[in-house]
Amino acid sequence: MVATHKISIHNTPASRLPSVDFSNLPFGKVYTDHMLIADYHHGAWQSVRIVPYGHISISPASPALHYGQSIFEGMKAYRNERGEALVFRPLDNWKRLNRSAERMCLPEVPEELFMQGLQTLIELDRNWIPDVPGSSLYIRPFLFSADEYIGIRPSENFTFMIILSPVGPYYSTPVKVCIETHFTRAVRGGTGYAKAGGNYGGAIYPAKLAQDRGYHQLIWTDGIEHKYVEESGTMNVMFVKENSLITPALNDSILAGITRDSVIQMARYWNMPVEERKISVEELINGLRDHSITEAFGAGTAATIAHIELIGYEGTDYHLPPVEKRDFSNRVLLALDEIKRGHAPDPFGWVHLF
Ligand code: COI
Repeated sequence: MVATHKISIHNTPASRLPSVDFSNLPFGKVYTDHMLIADYHHGAWQSVRIVPYGHISISPASPALHYGQSIFEGMKAYRNERGEALVFRPLDNWKRLNRSAERMCLPEVPEELFMQGLQTLIELDRNWIPDVPGSSLYIRPFLFSADEYIGIRPSENFTFMIILSPVGPYYSTPVKVCIETHFTRAVRGGTGYAKAGGNYGGAIYPAKLAQDRGYHQLIWTDGIEHKYVEESGTMNVMFVKENSLITPALNDSILAGITRDSVIQMARYWNMPVEERKISVEELINGLRDHSITEAFGAGTAATIAHIELIGYEGTDYHLPPVEKRDFSNRVLLALDEIKRGHAPDPFGWVHLF
């Protein structure tokens, strides 16, 4: 990594840290003292700066507001006993950000801008990293068009930012999900594999309809036949069937989750058979009926490993075994948590020390 970006720092005059109740953190409502901003003009990234966290100004004609030309990432940082910040797989998020950027016609963010920006910001707000069990510092990098133009064309001006949020659990209980066979999250050739804002915006209404019926989230099915399972809400979805880990194979309508990949690598490390393949709704429902599917969980940065309590389909709720009986998902949740917090060796080289 080459040091090419001079980062200017404007410190907050008064930290808000003393006002935060770290024993009772919600998800995504509390933000640290500082944020990083970089502008892209005339074909180059410039004026990389850290400023006090606060509102930004944006042209009302920005394509990010009108056409959703905006992408984001999610990562987490933890603090070890020596007070060092540990960030989980940041280079994988950087690579995925740039895959999303290509799809949404946004410029690449260079590795040194992403990593130096992150490091400088985290060093400044290090004391905001919670050390309460179940909590972490959620890192939200995002990139959007900053043109002032409401025609449709590739933009020329962009903004890259990173904000930080100390968070508690995304789901505080095992989740109830239902299989969605009417609405579609993503289709072949679309933007489903990218972390594009609009993928999530378009999911809010169908998810709300499910929430009105008592579920937390949906399990999305493919946009062509609604026959194959794809993702669950903000997470990838994984099952244990006859002692094998099964999960939908990646395609361009499924996000290549970094937690998903970490779970697969852990399972293989433990010599557990892993099948990345198409999983039909029929196979899933049959497996729940005959109890050959013994575990179901979502995997995501925000949600970590979210146990699925039940799956609703065509008016019937299919219950999974009690959480305490789920050997694999409990083991992988704990093992990943130990690695992320620096409490266990990191055989995969996932943890980045800042
Ligand atoms: C994440 O897990 O980091 C996500 O991006 C989920 C988010 C939409 C809350």
